[in-house]
This record gives sequence, structure tokens and C-alpha cells, in this order.
Amino acid sequence: MPEFKLYPSILSADFSQLGKQIQETETCGADGIHIDVMDGHFVPSITFGTPIIKAVRDLTGLPLDIHMMTVRPENHFSEFASAGADSITVHYEASPELKDTLALLDKFDVRKCVALNPETPIEKIYDIIPLVDQILIMSVQPGAGGQDFIPESLKKIETLSKEIESQGLSIPIQVDGGINPDTTLKAVQSGANIVVAGSAVFNEDFPICDGISNLRNSSI
Ligand code: DX5
Ligand code: ZN
Repeated sequence: MPEFKLYPSILSADFSQLGKQIQETETCGADGIHIDVMDGHFVPSITFGTPIIKAVRDLTGLPLDIHMMTVRPENHFSEFASAGADSITVHYEASPELKDTLALLDKFDVRKCVALNPETPIEKIYDIIPLVDQILIMSVQPGAGGQDFIPESLKKIETLSKEIESQGLSIPIQVDGGINPDTTLKAVQSGANIVVAGSAVFNEDFPICDGISNLRNSSI
């Protein structure tokens, strides 16, 4: 079973306890913190932006992974980079001129990432692979936590993994949505390197450390 990194998504966190919960994820071995920025346009919900990124930056030394579910993501690159983002992900579907958007992102000291919705064929981003530092395969419709993993995502991860290799590159594949111990195992076996988990980590039914160790143990 290959190694994988685990990035809890604070979308499912208890925001009245955010500091405590982030520290707990760090203590229990999270590899990064995933922050879902939603704008009410690209997806119906609105979540958070720069002030929360700054606050989380002050709470942890873990990499901050910003998932932008927004139109015109470039309007916020500078603010997010200054606030402490380590990686910024833009959606293929939100950026009609994706190469130009990635060129704008290149001006900042962050990892450049692209995300694909479940219905977007993986072939659409083959020419983008050399331009990015990470690729995110959405395994649910973006916009909400707690949805079921879409099984077809596994084939996409596998195909992408082979394509990256055939281009002679080594780019991490991230998977986001519906992650639990069972889907973690399948996604990592298909080629995912970074697993994002919201409700499987932040859940009132069990402690954060149990959520993290259940996901880690799924790979043993
Ligand atoms: C959904 C977000 C995810 C979300 C995943 O649009 O991108 O990061 O937090 O939540 P779970 O793990 O509960 O499916
Ligand atoms: Zn996300």
C-alpha cells in the first residue's frame, strides 16, 4: 500500500472550537489543512476567505491548501498568498482561460493546483499537467461536505496517474469528497497521493484523532 498524505478539510469543523480542533489535527498527525473557499456563484454556498486563512495560518505550521470553488479566482491570489496559503487550487470549470489563470498564479510563492469536477473528462487537462504542482480530482459535486464518494472517480485517478507517468512527470494527485476508510484505501490504490477528508475527521460522533487514525489504518 503506497504512502499518502492526509489533509483534513475544516469545512466540517466546529467553528466555535476552530483553534482547538486544528491543534488536535496537528497533534494527531495531519499533513496539511484544506480550506474550502466558496463564493455563492461557482457553487451555491458561501464559506470563508482571507480572514479565516490568516487565522488558521496563526494556529498551525502545517501547509495550508486553499481549494477555490470560485469564479475569477485570480482576484484573490495576492490576498491568499499574503495570508499564508501554501497551495492554491483553481477549478478547470471556473477558469475559461486556465493557462492564463495559472500564469497569474505563478507570480506568487504558492504551489499551483487545478481541480476537476466529477463530470469533467480527465483528458481535458492533459496539456495542463506540466504547468501545475498538484491535481485535485473531485469525488463528489463541489459545494458541500458529507456526500457519498462517486465510484467513477477511481478510474479517473488511475488514468491520470498513468498519464502523469507517461509525460515523465511526478505530480501528486489529490482526492476530495466522500472520503472514509474504505474510499481512502480505494483512492490510494488507484494512485491518489493526498486525501482530503472533512466529515471523516471533524465529526461529533467521534474524536478527531480517531477519525484520523481510522483513515490512516485503512491503508494497512
Ligand atoms: C466539498 C469540499 C470538500 C469537503 C469534503 O466541496 O471541497 O473539501 O470538505 O467533505 P467530506 O469529506 O465530508 O466529503
Ligand atoms: Zn475541498
